[in-house]
Amino acid sequence: MSKILTLTLNGRDRADAVADNVLLLDYLREVAGLTGTKTCCDGGECGACTVLVDDVPVLSCLCLANAFDGRRVETVEALAQNGRLAPIQRGFHEKLGAQCGFCTPGLIMASEGLLRNTPRPTEDDIRAALGSNICRCTGYVKIIEAVQWAAQIMAEADPG
Ligand code: FES
Ligand code: FES
Repeated sequence: MSKILTLTLNGRDRADAVADNVLLLDYLREVAGLTGTKTCCDGGECGACTVLVDDVPVLSCLCLANAFDGRRVETVEALAQNGRLAPIQRGFHEKLGAQCGFCTPGLIMASEGLLRNTPRPTEDDIRAALGSNICRCTGYVKIIEAVQWAAQIMAEADPG
């Protein structure tokens, strides 16, 4: 069976006929053509497939696409605006938070979800938010520094 999935994807409304057994991850990569979201463990253990749904990080390899009808889904492709990287993307660049980069889109989206909901995170907040994301290269210190850098930049832009 398939149904018409209607959702807001990276700020644009769209509708696609999607079979009931299609994962959100496969919908994003193969139907929407958004390959920034990575397939890795395919079993909910690595975080490489993390996207935001209504600002909350979700492991897209564990969810059926049709469960997100009417929702607002964002992938890493949504973050840069007018050719300018988002603060969290710049943080990973400035602090050398990426090496091979395969885990990076998932880490960036998990971090973005944290910063939207906790704009002034402590190091413990960051470690907790990224606890489901595995990186084989960096040792995590640079990743934490990247999130702290982004939080600082966002605080300076919006001291509120
Ligand atoms: S690919 Fe989804 S958690 Fe690893
Ligand atoms: S940068 Fe290589 S797995 Fe994280």
